Amino acid sequence: MKTWGGRFSERADASAEKFTGSLAFDRWLWPYDIAGSIAWAGALGRARVITDEERDRIVKGLEGVRRELEDGTFTFRAELEDIHTNIERRLTELIGPVGGKLHTGRSRNDQIAVDERLFLRDAIPRLDEGLRRIQQVLVDRATEHLDAPMPGYTHLQRAQPILLSHHLLAYVFMLARDRDRLRACGAHADVMPLGAGALAGTAFPIDREALARDLGFAAVSPNSLDAVSDRDYFIELLAAVAIAGMHLSRLAGDLTLWATSEFGFVEFSDRFATGSSMMPQKKNPDVAELMRGKSGRLYGNLMAVLTAMKGLPLTYNSDMQEDKEPVFDSVDTLLAITDVVPPMLASLTFRVDRLRQAAGEHFSTATDVADYLVRKGVPFREAHEIVGRIVRHALDARVGLEALDLGTLRTFSPVFDADITRAITVEASLAARSATGGTAPDAVRRSLDLARTLAR
Ligand code: ARG
Repeated sequence: MKTWGGRFSERADASAEKFTGSLAFDRWLWPYDIAGSIAWAGALGRARVITDEERDRIVKGLEGVRRELEDGTFTFRAELEDIHTNIERRLTELIGPVGGKLHTGRSRNDQIAVDERLFLRDAIPRLDEGLRRIQQVLVDRATEHLDAPMPGYTHLQRAQPILLSHHLLAYVFMLARDRDRLRACGAHADVMPLGAGALAGTAFPIDREALARDLGFAAVSPNSLDAVSDRDYFIELLAAVAIAGMHLSRLAGDLTLWATSEFGFVEFSDRFATGSSMMPQKKNPDVAELMRGKSGRLYGNLMAVLTAMKGLPLTYNSDMQEDKEPVFDSVDTLLAITDVVPPMLASLTFRVDRLRQAAGEHFSTATDVADYLVRKGVPFREAHEIVGRIVRHALDARVGLEALDLGTLRTFSPVFDADITRAITVEASLAARSATGGTAPDAVRRSLDLARTLAR
């Protein structure tokens, strides 16, 4: 029954079989396993290890197996351990003993490595497109609210006025780096491991470069031990996905906070909120909360594979079979997030009046008062001290900066003039920050142009 049965005299214990089998999750690799096997049959033919006629029978047989897998008539057999053996066994059932020639010079160790790399080739563009779609909506919402001011925060304390568009675009640039990381991972994975054999290389005259071309890889692995024993391409993907998940969890964190009655900056559409089974008044931002919460499993998946790989002696070890479920889960999780987030973002209602009002509260332009003094020649350190005292005074008097008249201001510094009134408006504060990357409307317009190209 087993592909390796010859050496054994007792059959595997049911518990061991269940514990070591991987079919439950590696079955999803079947499209890549078939593609790798068809290419391998071609390589064996080219090397004259099998005849052209044998190759054609094997390839036709594999295509038959593929059809069964596609239309769901394939019978998976858990006792055959994994997807590789399941496919090979079915091939032999369909075409007879010649099917047994396919595994010549090949090991499941280089086979799984090629399957996983082919899987990444499919998964990465889908993840990339998902992130791009989020960028696109953020760019659209930023365009719509290009000039809307809001309070910016540090330490979650009111800091300085910013534009809502500037805030939204921050995420577009984060996601652009996430997409770069995915691309880099794809490039690192674009190396063909077949021909590494179990670990030492294949003993048959395989033209690995031609095989790499057949499978669309840019290069062949230069070291067979490395080829069968590393999973860095998966770890890189898990890291890239975890970082993207972290970014998206922060966006979710902003939105859930902004949706509170305390903030009141944004309202979720009913289509992307849920109610409470007990409290009739509740409207919960569930989608955003889960978008935030799912970063936990993305980090966990990264940690799981990093930890499973740590300290493993070269080369292949069965521990490495633990790499697949975390990767599949991270890919599925990020895709689920990128499915729901674009329409959720598109349906948000930003409370621009509330944002505008809040932008000017709580001494948000105090830095601009200090900058005003600096422009009149006061050293910044001194200006900071003076404005600190003004804020203290205003707090005691329970008024805002704009309520202080010139006479009062002059008791703090003689350089104050009538033009201070204009300098401490939200608009002036925003407009002053026009250096590249700042929140001035002009600067944001320029960064929006860049963001648009990144979201393409
Ligand atoms: N199921 C294995 C994995 O996921 C495939 C390679 C198995 N090789 C072996 N000798 N058991 O990594």
